Amino acid sequence: MTITTPNRRTDASADTTPLVPAAPPVREPEPEATVTFEIDGLETTVPKGTLVIRAAERLGIQIPRFCDHPLLAPAGACRQCLVEVWAPGRDGNLAKMPKPQASCTLEATPGMQVKTQHTSPEADKAQHGVMELLLINHPLDCPVCDKGGECPLQNQAMSNGRATTRFVDVKRTFPKPIAVSTQVLLDRERCVLCQRCTRFSEEVAGDVWIDLQKRGAQQQIGTFDTEVLGFAGETPVGAATLDTSGRPFSSYFSGNTVQICPVGALTSAAYRFRARPFDLVSTPGIAEHDSNGSAIRVDHRRGVVLRRLAGEDPAVNQEWVTDKDRFAFRWQSAADRITTPMVRRPQGDGTRGPLEPCSWVEALDTAAVGLQAAVEAGAGVGVLPGGRLTLEDAYAYAKLARVALRTNDVDHRARPHSAEEEAFLGHVVAGRTLTVTFADLVAAPTVLCVAYEPEEEGGIVFLRLRDRVVAGRTRVLSVAPLASRGLERLDATLLPAAPGTEPEVLDAIEAEAGEPLLADAATALAAEGAVVLVGERAAEVPGLLSAVLRLAERTGARLAWVPRRAGERGAVEAGTLPGLLPGGRPVADPSARVDMATVWGVDELPATPGRSADEILAAAAERRIGALVVGGVDPADHADPRLARAALDTVPFLVSLEVRASEVTDRADVVLPVAPPVEKPGTFVTWEGRPRPFAQALTSTSMADHRVLDLLADALGVELGTGSLAAVHAELDQLGGWDGARLPAPDVAVAEPAPVPPGHAVLATWHQLLDAGRLQDGEPYLAGTAKRPLARVSAATAAAVGVADGGALEVATDRGTLTLPVQVTDMPDHVVWLPTNARGCAVRDVLGAGTGTVVRLAAGRADVTTRAAAPSTGPVTGDTADAVSGVRIDEGERA
Ligand code: SF4
Ligand code: FES
Repeated sequence: MTITTPNRRTDASADTTPLVPAAPPVREPEPEATVTFEIDGLETTVPKGTLVIRAAERLGIQIPRFCDHPLLAPAGACRQCLVEVWAPGRDGNLAKMPKPQASCTLEATPGMQVKTQHTSPEADKAQHGVMELLLINHPLDCPVCDKGGECPLQNQAMSNGRATTRFVDVKRTFPKPIAVSTQVLLDRERCVLCQRCTRFSEEVAGDVWIDLQKRGAQQQIGTFDTEVLGFAGETPVGAATLDTSGRPFSSYFSGNTVQICPVGALTSAAYRFRARPFDLVSTPGIAEHDSNGSAIRVDHRRGVVLRRLAGEDPAVNQEWVTDKDRFAFRWQSAADRITTPMVRRPQGDGTRGPLEPCSWVEALDTAAVGLQAAVEAGAGVGVLPGGRLTLEDAYAYAKLARVALRTNDVDHRARPHSAEEEAFLGHVVAGRTLTVTFADLVAAPTVLCVAYEPEEEGGIVFLRLRDRVVAGRTRVLSVAPLASRGLERLDATLLPAAPGTEPEVLDAIEAEAGEPLLADAATALAAEGAVVLVGERAAEVPGLLSAVLRLAERTGARLAWVPRRAGERGAVEAGTLPGLLPGGRPVADPSARVDMATVWGVDELPATPGRSADEILAAAAERRIGALVVGGVDPADHADPRLARAALDTVPFLVSLEVRASEVTDRADVVLPVAPPVEKPGTFVTWEGRPRPFAQALTSTSMADHRVLDLLADALGVELGTGSLAAVHAELDQLGGWDGARLPAPDVAVAEPAPVPPGHAVLATWHQLLDAGRLQDGEPYLAGTAKRPLARVSAATAAAVGVADGGALEVATDRGTLTLPVQVTDMPDHVVWLPTNARGCAVRDVLGAGTGTVVRLAAGRADVTTRAAAPSTGPVTGDTADAVSGVRIDEGERA
């Protein structure tokens, strides 16, 4: 293992602008001092440093504003919040400030007297003047503007502006709209130059992709392209734009600028002209895309969701969401939605017929007969719920398996997993909720990420961490093969580790380590409140989760497991693991089984821990399992998609509970349609273990999984008791916590790294936030901002293969070949990194490979790079995104 300089930029084309502003030194918080002053004659006492506009809010005094935002640094850009201010001078006498002051940048001081537009004609006149100036060039196109009806400019023009215009000249106009990205459009003449968008991009996301251009009357928001104000008309909507470093624009958080733009200058391509705000019905929700449980608002009209906005939750996502949470929702109403149950009836020749729609009674009876036959034949049933379920749905799968199907062969992990991981989850995760929270993260002096990319695998964790990094309060370290752009924007210290060597690196983090970087990391992790975040990918490296436990014990750092999918943590709590019952009760523990059997009203539960998902699939592929019950699972997500497909093809009887047609429903004997999150109430559980209940947004006849499973159990002659949320919640309340023995800590030896022959490399891979996942289907504008798939190798590895930076690299296994543009990166030699499931780069599916697999490298054809560099010339769709990605798939032996 080589330790290189941490946090070095890996992109040769990158500029040298610091990605994170220089952090002020960490200061101890001072005891809170207060300030007493008056607003409109009302005396108020506030903490020292409070802005006048915030103090006015506390008193319920409205001051108009555009640029002010509580989560952004004060800018004083729009001047709409002007107030009259009197303050004590050096002689102690009150003196009026010569001009009205911006209350959003003015800190309250003792004895100050503030007069807003409610009590000061001068402040009122100043605000009217600013409003008149802002409206001089504003198009007043509210009837056709997306923001009309929910627009601060519209509202405040009515409350704090003139009733009629005095402007008689020709207004300034621009060609419109500019496509800032495929999903964010800019109508420049509507902009009031508040700079909320630019400040969000720089301060919060760290993606500096737009800024103020030019001066005076021509001053406008645009990209850093010097020709920005001239490129409308040349760059069609949907074409690729570049960020400050020349990279294709690819912020994962750009939709937030659309939401905080106080006018209709920034609009969403997906929502533009689709609806008026006053026609929409809003329902609070929880995003289904990751384990952060971000609060969202679902806006729908006549049964159709038209947009999603960030909800406010200071404890979780503040007021931000990722673009995936915001824009990826049409999968729930895709054309391939399954709306009726289906069965496969036997043909006259004894073969299985096609899937045919049927009644619920027939489907449930057919499923029950097939499952019962498998149980009675002794072959048993395997249950694979998938990782996207609500807590209630997962609980129903866990109970169905144990009570109705009499098996512990249940595992929700539709991804690479291990027995070590299950022991880890049973030892420190299951049943231990809110031991590390977002509040702990933002208070932590040090956060170490292991097998976890905060931006790619959980965008809100990234934003919360970045906020503290920029404030100089938190230092981020990461054990990874390379510093991703997300890590760079966290100013993270990289502890480089080739795939498979992470346990070795963690074990070397010692105060007395010879390597200064590791000794420094040990000191940082020993600080009170330090946190280790370990991702689900740790299961791919034998011994890594054991090493994480050793590290936490050695340093005293707190530990949190951060899975990717929204349902993973809830499923762990619900007991959809072969060795764990609900609440972290070990299956092998007799008292835990008695505990559960009492609540479930059965005499006994199966005592032997079941098989993992991989083992269930292997057994099914060899017809050693009689039937499978499969939830929302994509075979391509499994460590070995070929094995998963073989299992689905071979198993004698297959029941699928699905929202949309899939590879599983294609093979199923019985298909039971279930509701997507927007059509059911339920509870996601965040990585912290925080329950995130959400309401049903759309009226629907579709049933949640827990209701369908209740009916299925009924058909099996078993009362499952999961027919309603209330019933499930009552049982969970009755269960309570588990204070008995937990699964013992895993202690898996570090595996010897596999030899890497010449011309080969060890594969490192993780998911990017935007990729080819099915929950992003039907979102062409979102797909246009996904990062282009690239292979990353070190300069020495590239030279050994004979590939130059930007050239084409073939990555191959016996199963197939992927050819991608290569980016030479500062990373360990003999390692190649690929995105796990980017469009055209399905690593597991095509290569049958995962982290740690030794793959062959070779120079690829040059035309691949030519295609990669070609800009898109039209709206980016899923198909065109493939076309511009520069990726070629050689199907090889793909099943
Ligand atoms: Fe403000 Fe919107 Fe203009 Fe950005 S585009 S400066 S958010 S008005
Ligand atoms: Fe105060 Fe803009 S809100 S200057």
